[in-house]
Parts: sequence; C-alpha cells; structure tokens
Amino acid sequence: MKTGSIGIRRARLVDAAAIAEVHDDAWRYAYRGVLPGAELERMIARRGPAWWERAIQRRVSILVLEVGDEVRGYVTFGASRARSLPYKGEVYELYIQPEYSGLGFGRRLFDAARTALANEGRRSFVVWALSDNEAACNFYNRLGGRAVATAEETIGTANLPKIAFGFAARHARQGGSRSAS
Ligand SMILES: CC(C)(COP(=O)(O)OP(=O)(O)OC[C@H]1O[C@@H](n2cnc3c(N)ncnc32)[C@H](O)[C@@H]1OP(=O)(O)O)[C@@H](O)C(=O)NCCC(=O)NCCS
Repeated sequence: MKTGSIGIRRARLVDAAAIAEVHDDAWRYAYRGVLPGAELERMIARRGPAWWERAIQRRVSILVLEVGDEVRGYVTFGASRARSLPYKGEVYELYIQPEYSGLGFGRRLFDAARTALANEGRRSFVVWALSDNEAACNFYNRLGGRAVATAEETIGTANLPKIAFGFAARHARQGGSRSAS
C-alpha cells in the first residue's frame, strides 16, 4: 500500500472511473454474504463510471479522498431523504477502499462531509447503514452517531433491516430549541 500526500476534494468528471472502482471493491468487501450474490453484482454493474459521470454532472455532492494521487475513498451527501426524521442533511454513502480502511481515512472523509453539510445549513444529519454491516454500525457509533430509527431496505428479493444514525448539530446552544437544524 502506497501513501504519500493525502487530500480531500470535490469530485471531478475525470474521477468517475476511480470512484466506480472504490465503490465496487468496498461493496464486495462489505456486502458479500449480506446481500444475495446476484443482486450484489447487479447493483455493482449499475454503478459503473457512466453512472458516476452523470452524478458528477448533476452536481451531486461528492468528496473524494486522494492518497498519493489515487482516489481511495468517497462520500456523497445532501438533503435528508427521510422527511419524518428531524434531520436536514444526510450522508448517503461513505466508502473506503478495503486495503485503506482502519487508517483514519473514514473519519477524515466523514468530518469533511460534516463541514460541507454545515456550510449548506444542514448542521444535523443522518446516515443509514444496514444492520448486518457491523463495521459501518460500529464506525458511526464511534463517531458519535445515535441510533434514531430503523427501517427496511428492499434489495432484489431481500428485505434487509437498516438503522439510521443521527448526528446533532455540533455547537447547539444551551437551552435552545430542540428542533434539529
Ligand atoms: C466503515 C468504513 C467507512 C470505516 O472507515 P475507516 O477508514 O476504516 O475508519 P477509521 O479508520 O477512520 O475509523 C474511525 C473510528 O471508527 C472505528 N472503527 C472503524 N471501523 C470499525 C470496525 N469495523 N469496528 C469497530 N470500530 C471501527 C475506529 O476504531 C475509529 O475509532 P477511533 O478513531 O476512535 O479510534 C470503511 O471501513 C469502509 O468503507 N468499509 C466498507 C464499506 C462500508 O461498510 N461503508 C459504510 C456503508 S454505510
């Protein structure tokens, strides 16, 4: 594994293939044995470079982690999709290439997304993880997330339980409103 200079920046069109590669590796690593195999491969096939190019063109918020000029992780975020929860923002996906996990990069990407969300006025946010993805649940717990909701994700023929981890605004004023911002 090579390291070197480490940086986090907005994704550019030329990053599409590299993001797709991180996505593929991380999904196989995280979801093999959790998702039905054929469904996992179908989902990976749908998320090729062309899918990521379109996402970047549509200005989806994507930050990439660069380690020595190579993209080794990414995070996507924006408005919360669960309107029933009192959180304005959402981290949709955060993935680190498996051989680069456990080195603090996930936390760095998460913090960068948190700052970007706050700059958009979304100081509280939610992240969903499949309950069976123990690594992700431990990670979001460790980062201070609180389990605030459960739901089911239907993937192909499988109904999989998932958990929402809520992250409150960092500098909430004492005695202020309880509503999330
Ligand atoms: C889960 C994932 C994002 C974590 O990123 P990472 O770079 O490995 O995590 P970090 O090294 O930044 O760890 C941050 C903290 O979480 C903890 N943590 C990370 N993975 C953990 C695990 N599997 N079990 C327990 N704690 C874990 C670390 O101990 C660390 O705590 P500390 O800083 O207080 O010591 C990454 O491993 C990954 O992409 N995995 C595969 C795909 C996936 O499951 N993504 C999430 C989908 S919602």
